[in-house]
Amino acid sequence: MAADDVEMLPYPSKAGKGQQHGPRYRLPVISGPGGRQAAAWIVRLPAIRIILAAIVVILLTGTLSSGIGYEHDFTRPIIDDNGMISFGHQPEPFETDATPGDRRLVLVLPADKPGLSVCKAVTSALALGYPMPVLVNWGADPRDRWGNKGGSNLLKITGVLEYLDEMLGGESLDGHRLRPEDLVAMVDPSDAWFQLPPEVLLARYHEGNGKANKRLEKEWAGRSGEEMPVKQTIIASAQKRCWPTQDMGPDLHCDKLPASPARKDLYGSKTDIEQPEDESRRFHDLRPRFLNSGLIIGPAADLHRFFRRVKEKLDRKLGEGERFIQTDQGIFAEVFAEQEIYRQWLLEQQKEGKPAFPTGEGSDMLDDNFEFHVGLDYGQVLSAPTNHAETDGDFLLLDDKAHIKGRSKDLKIKKPRLTGVPPDLKDVRVPTGVTGSLHWGNMSLYADFFSGSVPVTLHHDAYRDGLKARVTEWWDRAWFFPQLRELLSLRLKDVQDLSPLATLPAGNEDKLVYWPLTADLTGHRPRVFKADLDSPGLGEISFEDMCRPRGETPDVKTHWYDEVFRDGKGTFSV
Ligand SMILES: *[C@@H]1O[C@H](CO)[C@@H](O)[C@H](O)[C@H]1NC(C)=O
Repeated sequence: MAADDVEMLPYPSKAGKGQQHGPRYRLPVISGPGGRQAAAWIVRLPAIRIILAAIVVILLTGTLSSGIGYEHDFTRPIIDDNGMISFGHQPEPFETDATPGDRRLVLVLPADKPGLSVCKAVTSALALGYPMPVLVNWGADPRDRWGNKGGSNLLKITGVLEYLDEMLGGESLDGHRLRPEDLVAMVDPSDAWFQLPPEVLLARYHEGNGKANKRLEKEWAGRSGEEMPVKQTIIASAQKRCWPTQDMGPDLHCDKLPASPARKDLYGSKTDIEQPEDESRRFHDLRPRFLNSGLIIGPAADLHRFFRRVKEKLDRKLGEGERFIQTDQGIFAEVFAEQEIYRQWLLEQQKEGKPAFPTGEGSDMLDDNFEFHVGLDYGQVLSAPTNHAETDGDFLLLDDKAHIKGRSKDLKIKKPRLTGVPPDLKDVRVPTGVTGSLHWGNMSLYADFFSGSVPVTLHHDAYRDGLKARVTEWWDRAWFFPQLRELLSLRLKDVQDLSPLATLPAGNEDKLVYWPLTADLTGHRPRVFKADLDSPGLGEISFEDMCRPRGETPDVKTHWYDEVFRDGKGTFSV
């Protein structure tokens, strides 16, 4: 029954030496029909039961030997074609936490300086039809805030928080104001590109929450809806390694985090085992279950609460004299870990028949401090970080079955997990203006051979062996690249009316409709949020000012536009 469809990967095998990352939630394990336990079990049964058991065995082995694989192994959680996770023999019914209504989606990109990175993140988003991005932290210097105690990526925390403070406030500018339920997607533009349109992001966000909430309800046996003391509304991206490590300051409680609900054989028989002997592959086989702060998406008010808590923690650490804090990720991850520890405690209380919440005055405080409705993108369907997954994925055509089969085989994946256009992409329209009668199956998309994910965004955080160079080398492999200039011009034209970004089913016949901010009706450039003025505001920024790296003088040979468009047509302006 343990018919791995990934062979033993070719690592120097030191069985038992690797560190096992134990799951918190033990999934039911039914030992295989040939297994010793099953044999012992059958021996103890009366004759009639043996016959029944034999029939079960025949049925099971029949199914398995038909070679269909994990979809028919009811003991394991599976990731389906679109990277969504489900449990059980039957595919789970479509899950979503979408509720009817109208909401807005904003993209918030923390970027303190101009350059190719932010340029590629913004142009890829706009080509795909995302709303006009808002840049926070533009021109900010971490030294002004923290002296020599904190690095520039800590600005991610303060920049997003200040933006949310302002936009959720009643005073904020017309057309930019956010309601608590409006959705904010924070994407770190330093090494990320978009490749799928907003409706995929939105549908997967709601489906991810729907499924996570189902899992939580199962844990909380019987409770649902308003009775649930915990829920998920925020999704952060997930990575393979628990990082930063404790010697860098934060305590991520790596061993207390939930197990990944992804398939247990994601990386073959060594899944979840570290390979300390091979530094370059050390974390490769760990299923992603640790927070990566490259993408965080959630309702404005919930995100505000989460970021406020993260900021408090940052301030406390700086106040306690923690040495130079290099990365924001540890702070986000520590708050996430504390939420998990709190959730486990709460569940224990419940199991012991104690009231889940202390009653009275203390209860609000407890809830406020630890439960932030945060979960992770375990299937990496929103964002695929490439660190420790250096060879796991590539740009490809989903229709090219022969290529996918060959590449999967090279990675020792017997049965390809990329099986054409994912179901949640099939009916999604190709962005307006795309020429050449393309469909998602013959557009060059990044996909992961192991998880089967075709992510909404690609996060180039791989750095080993000079792989950061992919931000240049792979740029022209993205499907939109040959049409980037035309698509951008089209998106930046005047429009008479706003069109919805997505219309999602929200139970019964109802719909949830997502819109850009009304400011997008008149503004045709990315916006820069300034918090440090007497009256905070949002100004527009030109592509020149956003894309041209500092130090790019007029006489350089290759200008930013030569790299971004590579078409010899000069700069881009609107
Ligand atoms: C992509 O697929 C569509 C629909 O099958 C087809 O009409 C088109 O010619 C294909 N384009 C390319 C470039 O392969």
